[in-house]
Amino acid sequence: MKKLENKVSLITGASAGMGRAMAILFATEGSRVVATDINSSGLEELKKEAADKGLELITQVADISKEEDIEKMIDTSVSTYGSLDILVNNAGIIDDFKTVGEASNELWDRIIAVNLTGPFKASRAAVRIMEKQDTGGVIINNSSIGGMFGVRGGAAYVASKHGLNGLTRNMAATYGVYGNIRVNAIAPGGVETNIQDTIKEPSELGNKALDDKGEMPMGSSGDLARVALFLASDDSAFVNGAILTADGGWTAG
Ligand SMILES: NC(=O)c1ccc[n+]([C@@H]2O[C@H](COP(=O)([O-])OP(=O)(O)OC[C@H]3O[C@@H](n4cnc5c(N)ncnc54)[C@H](O)[C@@H]3O)[C@@H](O)[C@H]2O)c1
Repeated sequence: MKKLENKVSLITGASAGMGRAMAILFATEGSRVVATDINSSGLEELKKEAADKGLELITQVADISKEEDIEKMIDTSVSTYGSLDILVNNAGIIDDFKTVGEASNELWDRIIAVNLTGPFKASRAAVRIMEKQDTGGVIINNSSIGGMFGVRGGAAYVASKHGLNGLTRNMAATYGVYGNIRVNAIAPGGVETNIQDTIKEPSELGNKALDDKGEMPMGSSGDLARVALFLASDDSAFVNGAILTADGGWTAG
Protein backbone atom coordinates (compact mmCIF):
# COMPACT_ATOMS: atom_id res chain seq x y z
CA MET A 1 0.00 0.00 0.00
CA LYS A 2 1.35 3.39 -0.95
CA LYS A 3 1.79 5.82 1.95
CA LEU A 4 -0.40 8.66 0.66
CA GLU A 5 -3.10 6.75 -1.24
CA ASN A 6 -6.23 8.90 -1.82
CA LYS A 7 -4.66 11.96 -0.21
CA VAL A 8 -4.64 15.43 -1.76
CA SER A 9 -1.43 17.41 -1.14
CA LEU A 10 -0.72 21.05 -1.83
CA ILE A 11 2.98 21.93 -1.93
CA THR A 12 4.30 25.51 -2.25
CA GLY A 13 7.66 26.32 -3.80
CA ALA A 14 7.38 23.11 -5.84
CA SER A 15 9.27 24.26 -8.96
CA ALA A 16 12.67 23.44 -7.55
CA GLY A 17 14.70 21.98 -4.73
CA MET A 18 12.99 20.23 -1.86
CA GLY A 19 9.47 21.22 -2.94
CA ARG A 20 9.94 19.61 -6.32
CA ALA A 21 11.35 16.41 -4.78
CA MET A 22 8.40 16.33 -2.38
CA ALA A 23 5.90 16.78 -5.22
CA ILE A 24 7.31 13.83 -7.16
CA LEU A 25 7.69 11.60 -4.08
CA PHE A 26 4.20 12.36 -2.74
CA ALA A 27 2.64 11.65 -6.16
CA THR A 28 4.69 8.43 -6.42
CA GLU A 29 3.22 7.46 -3.04
CA GLY A 30 -0.32 7.81 -4.40
CA SER A 31 -1.17 11.41 -3.55
CA ARG A 32 -2.91 13.73 -5.97
CA VAL A 33 -0.62 16.75 -5.89
CA VAL A 34 -1.29 20.45 -6.43
CA ALA A 35 2.18 21.91 -7.03
CA THR A 36 2.45 25.69 -6.76
CA ASP A 37 5.27 28.19 -7.22
CA ILE A 38 5.97 31.73 -8.32
CA ASN A 39 8.16 30.30 -11.12
CA SER A 40 5.95 29.14 -14.00
CA SER A 41 8.68 27.63 -16.19
CA GLY A 42 9.84 25.43 -13.32
CA LEU A 43 6.27 24.25 -12.84
CA GLU A 44 6.06 23.35 -16.55
CA GLU A 45 9.18 21.19 -16.18
CA LEU A 46 7.72 19.52 -13.10
CA LYS A 47 4.43 18.87 -14.90
CA LYS A 48 6.30 17.20 -17.73
CA GLU A 49 8.37 15.06 -15.36
CA ALA A 50 5.20 13.97 -13.55
CA ALA A 51 3.40 13.19 -16.83
CA ASP A 52 6.38 11.16 -18.07
CA LYS A 53 6.19 9.13 -14.86
CA GLY A 54 2.39 8.75 -15.09
CA LEU A 55 1.80 10.68 -11.86
CA GLU A 56 -1.32 12.65 -10.85
CA LEU A 57 -0.14 16.24 -10.45
CA ILE A 58 -1.48 19.63 -11.42
CA THR A 59 0.36 22.95 -11.21
CA GLN A 60 -0.67 26.48 -10.39
CA VAL A 61 1.38 29.66 -10.39
CA ALA A 62 1.00 31.24 -6.95
CA ASP A 63 3.03 33.85 -5.11
CA ILE A 64 2.87 32.94 -1.43
CA SER A 65 3.21 36.60 -0.50
CA LYS A 66 -0.13 37.37 -2.22
CA GLU A 67 -3.30 36.52 -0.34
CA GLU A 68 -5.41 36.19 -3.49
CA ASP A 69 -2.96 33.61 -4.89
CA ILE A 70 -3.14 31.67 -1.63
CA GLU A 71 -6.95 31.60 -1.70
CA LYS A 72 -6.87 30.46 -5.34
CA MET A 73 -4.43 27.59 -4.76
CA ILE A 74 -6.50 26.26 -1.85
CA ASP A 75 -9.69 26.57 -3.96
CA THR A 76 -7.98 24.67 -6.78
CA SER A 77 -7.22 21.72 -4.49
CA VAL A 78 -10.80 21.50 -3.28
CA SER A 79 -12.50 22.17 -6.60
CA THR A 80 -10.25 19.75 -8.53
CA TYR A 81 -9.88 16.92 -6.05
CA GLY A 82 -12.64 17.51 -3.47
CA SER A 83 -10.43 17.91 -0.39
CA LEU A 84 -7.16 19.16 1.03
CA ASP A 85 -5.41 16.61 3.23
CA ILE A 86 -1.79 17.78 3.32
CA LEU A 87 -0.40 21.31 3.07
CA VAL A 88 3.36 21.73 2.80
CA ASN A 89 4.47 25.31 3.39
CA ASN A 90 7.80 24.86 1.65
CA ALA A 91 8.43 28.06 -0.36
CA GLY A 92 11.09 30.20 1.25
CA ILE A 93 13.83 32.70 0.46
CA ILE A 94 17.08 33.75 2.13
CA ASP A 95 18.60 37.09 2.97
CA ASP A 96 22.35 37.21 2.13
CA PHE A 97 23.03 36.61 5.86
CA LYS A 98 22.44 40.34 6.45
CA THR A 99 22.85 41.38 10.08
CA VAL A 100 20.22 43.58 11.70
CA GLY A 101 22.30 46.71 11.06
CA GLU A 102 22.58 45.84 7.36
CA ALA A 103 19.03 44.69 6.64
CA SER A 104 16.84 47.14 4.73
CA ASN A 105 13.12 47.52 5.41
CA GLU A 106 12.46 45.99 1.98
CA LEU A 107 14.57 42.92 2.72
CA TRP A 108 12.95 42.43 6.13
CA ASP A 109 9.41 42.83 4.76
CA ARG A 110 10.02 40.47 1.82
CA ILE A 111 11.56 37.70 3.95
CA ILE A 112 8.79 37.89 6.56
CA ALA A 113 6.09 38.02 3.86
CA VAL A 114 7.33 34.87 2.08
CA ASN A 115 8.71 32.80 4.98
CA LEU A 116 6.19 33.60 7.72
CA THR A 117 3.09 35.55 6.66
CA GLY A 118 2.57 33.33 3.58
CA PRO A 119 2.60 30.09 5.63
CA PHE A 120 0.27 31.73 8.20
CA LYS A 121 -2.27 32.69 5.52
CA ALA A 122 -2.02 29.36 3.71
CA SER A 123 -2.43 27.49 7.01
CA ARG A 124 -5.43 29.63 7.94
CA ALA A 125 -7.12 28.83 4.64
CA ALA A 126 -6.20 25.15 4.97
CA VAL A 127 -7.44 24.60 8.54
CA ARG A 128 -10.81 26.07 7.55
CA ILE A 129 -11.12 23.19 5.05
CA MET A 130 -9.42 20.50 7.15
CA GLU A 131 -11.47 21.07 10.31
CA LYS A 132 -14.63 20.24 8.35
CA GLN A 133 -13.16 16.96 7.03
CA ASP A 134 -13.72 13.76 9.05
CA THR A 135 -10.14 12.80 8.29
CA GLY A 136 -8.71 16.18 9.40
CA GLY A 137 -5.41 17.02 7.81
CA VAL A 138 -1.68 17.50 8.07
CA ILE A 139 0.37 20.70 7.80
CA ILE A 140 4.15 20.61 7.35
CA ASN A 141 6.23 23.77 7.54
CA ASN A 142 9.65 23.68 5.91
CA SER A 143 11.53 25.73 8.48
CA SER A 144 15.30 25.66 9.06
CA ILE A 145 18.04 25.17 11.58
CA GLY A 146 17.92 28.98 11.35
CA GLY A 147 14.65 28.71 13.27
CA MET A 148 16.45 27.16 16.24
CA PHE A 149 19.79 28.99 16.49
CA GLY A 150 20.95 32.58 16.06
CA VAL A 151 23.29 32.58 13.08
CA ARG A 152 22.21 30.02 10.45
CA GLY A 153 21.01 32.90 8.26
CA GLY A 154 20.68 36.65 8.51
CA ALA A 155 18.50 38.54 10.99
CA ALA A 156 15.32 38.47 8.89
CA TYR A 157 15.67 34.82 7.85
CA VAL A 158 16.41 33.65 11.39
CA ALA A 159 13.49 35.70 12.77
CA SER A 160 11.13 34.39 10.09
CA LYS A 161 12.02 30.75 10.77
CA HIS A 162 11.83 31.18 14.56
CA GLY A 163 8.38 32.65 13.90
CA LEU A 164 7.46 29.70 11.70
CA ASN A 165 8.44 27.28 14.45
CA GLY A 166 6.26 29.21 16.91
CA LEU A 167 3.36 29.11 14.47
CA THR A 168 3.90 25.35 14.08
CA ARG A 169 3.73 24.77 17.84
CA ASN A 170 0.70 27.04 18.27
CA MET A 171 -1.24 25.23 15.55
CA ALA A 172 -0.22 21.81 16.89
CA ALA A 173 -1.28 22.76 20.43
CA THR A 174 -4.70 23.92 19.22
CA TYR A 175 -5.75 22.08 16.06
CA GLY A 176 -3.64 19.00 16.80
CA VAL A 177 -4.56 18.57 20.44
CA TYR A 178 -8.21 19.71 20.27
CA GLY A 179 -8.80 18.74 16.65
CA ASN A 180 -7.60 16.36 13.98
CA ILE A 181 -4.96 18.44 12.21
CA ARG A 182 -1.35 17.49 12.89
CA VAL A 183 1.20 20.26 12.42
CA ASN A 184 4.96 19.72 12.34
CA ALA A 185 8.02 21.46 10.96
CA ILE A 186 11.22 20.26 9.34
CA ALA A 187 14.45 22.03 10.27
CA PRO A 188 16.90 21.27 7.45
CA GLY A 189 20.56 22.16 7.75
CA GLY A 190 22.50 22.41 4.48
CA VAL A 191 20.69 21.04 1.43
CA GLU A 192 22.01 21.23 -2.13
CA THR A 193 19.36 23.28 -3.98
CA ASN A 194 19.02 26.45 -6.08
CA ILE A 195 18.69 28.54 -2.93
CA GLN A 196 22.48 28.83 -2.67
CA ASP A 197 22.50 30.59 -6.08
CA THR A 198 20.27 33.33 -4.70
CA ILE A 199 23.04 34.54 -2.36
CA LYS A 200 24.28 37.65 -4.20
CA GLU A 201 26.06 39.95 -1.75
CA PRO A 202 26.69 37.97 1.42
CA SER A 203 27.22 39.99 4.58
CA GLU A 204 30.81 39.78 5.79
CA LEU A 205 29.82 39.64 9.46
CA GLY A 206 26.85 37.33 8.87
CA ASN A 207 29.04 34.98 6.82
CA LYS A 208 31.81 34.98 9.43
CA ALA A 209 29.35 34.10 12.21
CA LEU A 210 28.04 31.23 10.10
CA ASP A 211 31.51 29.98 9.11
CA ASP A 212 32.45 29.83 12.80
CA LYS A 213 29.79 27.13 13.25
CA GLY A 214 31.99 24.69 11.35
CA GLU A 215 31.58 22.72 8.19
CA MET A 216 27.97 22.15 7.20
CA PRO A 217 27.16 18.65 5.92
CA MET A 218 25.09 18.83 2.72
CA GLY A 219 21.98 16.74 2.19
CA SER A 220 19.94 16.27 -0.99
CA SER A 221 16.41 17.36 -1.79
CA GLY A 222 15.48 13.67 -1.81
CA ASP A 223 16.74 13.27 1.77
CA LEU A 224 14.38 16.02 2.87
CA ALA A 225 11.46 14.82 0.73
CA ARG A 226 11.59 11.53 2.62
CA VAL A 227 11.40 13.41 5.94
CA ALA A 228 8.36 15.27 4.62
CA LEU A 229 6.79 11.97 3.52
CA PHE A 230 7.19 10.61 7.05
CA LEU A 231 5.45 13.69 8.50
CA ALA A 232 2.71 13.59 5.85
CA SER A 233 1.88 9.89 6.28
CA ASP A 234 0.27 7.92 9.09
CA ASP A 235 3.76 6.67 10.03
CA SER A 236 3.93 9.87 12.10
CA ALA A 237 0.34 9.65 13.44
CA PHE A 238 1.50 10.42 17.00
CA VAL A 239 3.92 13.19 16.01
CA ASN A 240 2.42 16.65 16.52
CA GLY A 241 4.21 19.94 17.20
CA ALA A 242 7.66 18.54 16.43
CA ILE A 243 10.46 20.53 14.84
CA LEU A 244 12.30 17.68 13.15
CA THR A 245 15.98 18.47 12.64
CA ALA A 246 17.50 17.06 9.44
CA ASP A 247 21.03 18.43 9.23
CA GLY A 248 23.37 15.42 9.12
CA GLY A 249 24.42 16.16 12.69
CA TRP A 250 25.61 19.73 12.08
CA THR A 251 23.98 21.09 15.23
CA ALA A 252 24.22 17.91 17.33
CA GLY A 253 27.50 18.78 18.98
N1 LIG B 1 18.63 24.58 0.91
C1 LIG B 1 18.93 24.73 2.17
O1 LIG B 1 20.11 24.62 2.57
C2 LIG B 1 17.85 25.02 3.20
C3 LIG B 1 18.17 24.87 4.54
C4 LIG B 1 17.20 25.10 5.50
C5 LIG B 1 15.92 25.44 5.12
N2 LIG B 1 15.61 25.59 3.81
C6 LIG B 1 14.22 25.93 3.47
O2 LIG B 1 13.68 24.98 2.60
C7 LIG B 1 12.66 25.56 1.79
C8 LIG B 1 12.90 25.18 0.34
O3 LIG B 1 14.12 25.73 -0.07
P1 LIG B 1 15.04 25.10 -1.22
O4 LIG B 1 16.39 24.99 -0.64
O5 LIG B 1 14.42 23.90 -1.83
O6 LIG B 1 15.08 26.35 -2.20
P2 LIG B 1 14.91 26.54 -3.78
O7 LIG B 1 15.28 27.96 -4.01
O8 LIG B 1 15.57 25.47 -4.55
O9 LIG B 1 13.33 26.37 -3.94
C9 LIG B 1 12.43 27.28 -3.37
C10 LIG B 1 11.24 27.45 -4.29
O10 LIG B 1 10.38 28.45 -3.72
C11 LIG B 1 9.92 29.27 -4.76
N3 LIG B 1 9.52 30.59 -4.26
C12 LIG B 1 10.31 31.63 -3.90
N4 LIG B 1 9.56 32.67 -3.54
C13 LIG B 1 8.26 32.29 -3.70
C14 LIG B 1 7.02 32.94 -3.51
N5 LIG B 1 6.94 34.22 -3.12
N6 LIG B 1 5.88 32.24 -3.74
C15 LIG B 1 5.95 30.97 -4.16
N7 LIG B 1 7.09 30.30 -4.38
C16 LIG B 1 8.24 30.96 -4.16
C17 LIG B 1 11.09 29.37 -5.74
O11 LIG B 1 10.67 29.77 -7.02
C18 LIG B 1 11.63 27.94 -5.68
O12 LIG B 1 11.03 27.11 -6.67
C19 LIG B 1 12.74 27.07 2.07
O13 LIG B 1 11.69 27.44 2.94
C20 LIG B 1 14.08 27.25 2.74
O14 LIG B 1 14.11 28.35 3.63
C21 LIG B 1 16.55 25.40 2.83
